[in-house]
Amino acid sequence: MRMALATMVALAAAGPVSAAASAKPARLGLCAACHGETGMAQIPGAPNLAGQKLDYLREALKQYRDGRRNAPLMRAAIGPISDADLDELARWYSAQAPQQQGTP
Ligand code: HEC
Repeated sequence: MRMALATMVALAAAGPVSAAASAKPARLGLCAACHGETGMAQIPGAPNLAGQKLDYLREALKQYRDGRRNAPLMRAAIGPISDADLDELARWYSAQAPQQQGTP
């Protein structure tokens, strides 16, 4: 996981990653700090997102954005995100395969 994060940061520094096999959302780096790049939580209290239903993830993110879910951490993380970016993140996490639970 540490490796993956480092790779991601390096890629981000090199510029926009375009047309990768399944392109990582531009904003994934921030989310990964808590939810992991592959949707397995990195901090206590953060939920795993890997393999969660797409509609559920999309709706949850909209609720944080709109303030209907009032979790300060998530509201700060999501900010005024566009529908397109929100959709990209929901799709990414929905497409990940859940992994064996480990201690972060
Ligand atoms: C600082 C840590 C942190 C960051 C950064 C963060 N999250 Fe979260 N996330 C949480 C926590 C904690 C919760 C549980 C909040 C709650 O009680 O509603 C959560 C909840 C969620 C949920 C709801 C899951 C569910 O089962 O209802 C989604 C979806 C989500 N985060 C996606 C994201 C995305 C996408 C990003 C990047 C834009 C992100 N998070 C960034 C900590 C974080």
